[in-house]
Amino acid sequence: MSPVPFVAPVVESTAAFKDDIFKGKVLFCTGGGSGICRGMTEAVMRHGANAVIIGRKLDRLTQSAKELSEKTGRTCIPAQADVRKPEELKEAVKKTIEKFGKIDFVICGAAGNFLAPISGLSENGFRTVMEIDTIGTYNTIKATIPHVRKTKGAYIHVSATLHYKGSQYQAHVSAAKAGIDALSTVLAVEEGPFGVRSNVIAPGAIAGTEGIARLSNKESRRPFVSPLGRVGEIKDVESATVFLFSDVASFITGQILVVDGGAENTRQSQLPYPQAVLDPESISKMVKGKL
Ligand code: COA
Repeated sequence: MSPVPFVAPVVESTAAFKDDIFKGKVLFCTGGGSGICRGMTEAVMRHGANAVIIGRKLDRLTQSAKELSEKTGRTCIPAQADVRKPEELKEAVKKTIEKFGKIDFVICGAAGNFLAPISGLSENGFRTVMEIDTIGTYNTIKATIPHVRKTKGAYIHVSATLHYKGSQYQAHVSAAKAGIDALSTVLAVEEGPFGVRSNVIAPGAIAGTEGIARLSNKESRRPFVSPLGRVGEIKDVESATVFLFSDVASFITGQILVVDGGAENTRQSQLPYPQAVLDPESISKMVKGKL
C-alpha cells in the first residue's frame, strides 16, 4: 500500500507573530481591493497597521476597505488610482499622508493577466500588461520612495514563478514579472544605504484567486500539486508578507521568496504540452477567456 502523502497545514500568521508588531505602521498597497493583495493587507492590519488600498474600481475598494477595517479593528481607506498613471498614484500618496502622516510599507501588487500565444498577442495586449505590472511597479516606487526613506520602511513586490521557465501563453506576464524582479533587486541595492528594504514574493498557484480561475485547466481538472501536498492558499502569502515586513527580516533585502510548496522544483506543466501549443483551439475549450 502506498503511504499517504503529507499535506502542509495552512497556518495564520498570528500563530507565530505577535498581534502588535506593526502597531502604528502604515501600509500602501496597490491591488489591495481583491485577491492575494487584499489578503496581504488584512494580514499586515491584523498585526496592528493601518492601510490604504489602491485600485481602479472605487466601489470594490470602498467595500474591501470597510470589510478590512471591521475584520481587523484597524483603519483602511480606499484610494482610486490606475498604476499606469503617475499623477493618480501621487494623489493616492497625498491622500495617505493627509490621513496617516507617513508610509512604512508598500506592496506593489496591481497586475493584469490573460492567456495568449505570442503569435496571437496584439502589441497593445503585450504593452498593457507591461504597463500595469512593470511600469506600474516603477510608478509606485517613484511615488512612495521619499516617504519610505523617511520611515526606513520596506517594499514587497508581488511577482510569480512562471517566468523561471517557458510558460506557454504567458510571454507578456513573464516579461513583466522578470522586470519586477529586476526592479526590486536594484531598489534593494540603491535604497539599502537609506535603510529601505525591498523583496519579492513569488506565489505559485494560489486557490480562490482570479488568476488561477483564468489560468487553470478546466477540462482535466488536474490539480496543481506541490511536494507539500496541496495548492497554495492566500494565507501562505499572508504569512510570508508578515515575515518580510517584520523586524526579524531586517537583514533580508533584494531576495525573492517563492511561496509554492516546492511546486517550481517539479516538472509539471500547467497546460498539455505540446498539444496546447500546436492546437490552441483545443485548449480554448479548457480555459476561460479568449486566446
Ligand atoms: N486575450 C488577448 N488579448 C487580450 C485579452 C485576452 N484575454 N484581454 C485583453 N487583451 C488585450 C486587448 O485585446 C487589448 O489589445 P487590443 O487593443 O490590441 O485589442 C489590450 O489587451 C488591452 O485590453 P483592455 O481590456 O482594453 O485593457 P484594460 O486596461 O481594460 O485591461 C487587463 C487589461 C489585463 C487588466 C484585462 O485583461 C483584465 O481585465 N484582466 C482581468 C483582471 C486581471 O488580470 N486580474 C489579475 C489576475 S492575476
